[in-house]
Amino acid sequence: MNHAPNPAPAPATPRRKVFIKTYGCQMNVYDSARMADVLAPQGFIPTEDVADADMVILNTCHIREKAAEKVFSDLGRIRAIKEARPGREMTIAVAGCVAQAEGSVITARAPFVDIVLGPQTYHRLPELVARAERKHGAVIDTEFPAEPKFDHLPAPRADGPAAFLSVQEGCDKFCTFCVVPYTRGAEYSRPAADVLREARGLVDAGVREITLLGQNVNAYHGEAVDGATWGLGRLIRELAEIDGLARIRYTTSHPRDMDDALMEAHRDVDALMPFLHLPVQSGSDKILAEMNRGHTIDDYRRVIDKLRTYRPDLALSSDFIVGFPGESDADFQATMNLVREITFAQSFSFKYSRRPGTPATAMTGQVPEDVKTARLGELQALIDKQLTQFNQSCVGREMDVLLTHTGRHPGQLVGRSPYLQAVHVSADAAMIGKIVSLRLTGLSTYSLAAELIEK
Ligand code: SAH
Ligand code: SF4
Ligand code: F3S
Repeated sequence: MNHAPNPAPAPATPRRKVFIKTYGCQMNVYDSARMADVLAPQGFIPTEDVADADMVILNTCHIREKAAEKVFSDLGRIRAIKEARPGREMTIAVAGCVAQAEGSVITARAPFVDIVLGPQTYHRLPELVARAERKHGAVIDTEFPAEPKFDHLPAPRADGPAAFLSVQEGCDKFCTFCVVPYTRGAEYSRPAADVLREARGLVDAGVREITLLGQNVNAYHGEAVDGATWGLGRLIRELAEIDGLARIRYTTSHPRDMDDALMEAHRDVDALMPFLHLPVQSGSDKILAEMNRGHTIDDYRRVIDKLRTYRPDLALSSDFIVGFPGESDADFQATMNLVREITFAQSFSFKYSRRPGTPATAMTGQVPEDVKTARLGELQALIDKQLTQFNQSCVGREMDVLLTHTGRHPGQLVGRSPYLQAVHVSADAAMIGKIVSLRLTGLSTYSLAAELIEK
């Protein structure tokens, strides 16, 4: 057979638009960005407008009932939008943790869904899209493939000076309230060389701050080049050597995995920011045991004491669950006392939500809704008070702020402080991506105002 000397150029990939909505945690934020990366070579460009999308992806969260149910109401709305524009196709995909947990239940409840894919299979999106376009009926892929998805993903593109980098996935802790071990699977750590390569790529593209992500990020135990296993402390030390990487954070960590090497990194590594999210969930040892958290309040205190000795300017945040089965008034007051004792710069608190398949859902002593609501109100008032006090204590101080984007008002830039506070300042847009010394001058509900310090 003769080959034509000048083969015709491949037809241009048709341009299509993808709308991605992200629910839940930062891991999902990272995953959504990676899904966009995977789809880009297929001609998909992101859109913010569902009505103009050829493909819609809902990247879902199963952590509490409300989050999971929201997906179905959003799906109803998306179907209405699709039906309002006959003649133009719209592929609808449900990804993430609801997809993993509910699989074909989703297509039974919402038969217009074309693709259901779990958090470990989104590197196969192009193939799933092609299959969905070919066949009638939904395509479901909620496997936990043997080959990790990270090996099949393109290098991420930087989107601004602060980036997320997933280093660890899944969880083997099985807290009795939590769906994550079921939706994300067993703990997996990416090899250190892959993490370092991804970090260098981001820094080359202008990233100054990286937040290392994992459901249990401090359980990280990645394979190093020399065959050794690195913990998170060692990984952070290596990352800090990258020229141009000014700031490192990590989230979410577990009190049980705060080992000495990681705590010492807080003492020794300047780039490691003095702000740590370390969820304790409850201030009662009885409830912590029922939750299968694997640590006591004294263990938590010891970790915090050591960290504060190493890094006196460390600020803390936590997650709390109120109304876990069996939580008495005294148990709840123990949580209030712990919050008063430790003092958090910020915290997230939730009413216990019964999740199918988790041990706590079948426990006796379920707490009535009105009691949960009252406890949540009391705890949130204390948390808000501490947040305001922390922010007030920053007014008048000088801080290094990474300027990340333009603000709502002309001439205004927004940045983040070492403590992840949003800071507003009047400055030239050319300064985006720079870390500048600012004096904090005032406080509003969600942010701080600041002025440049003339040097
Ligand atoms: N891996 C993290 C938590 C991930 S889930 C950790 O171990 O801390 C984020 C938060 O959601 C949890 O810290 C917990 O406070 C909350 N959460 C998880 N399951 C919940 C449930 N069934 N009901 C209410 N809140 C829950
Ligand atoms: Fe869920 Fe507990 Fe694992 Fe955190 S450590 S993801 S709360 S099971
Ligand atoms: Fe939600 Fe899954 Fe994250 S359940 S909190 S999106 S790991």
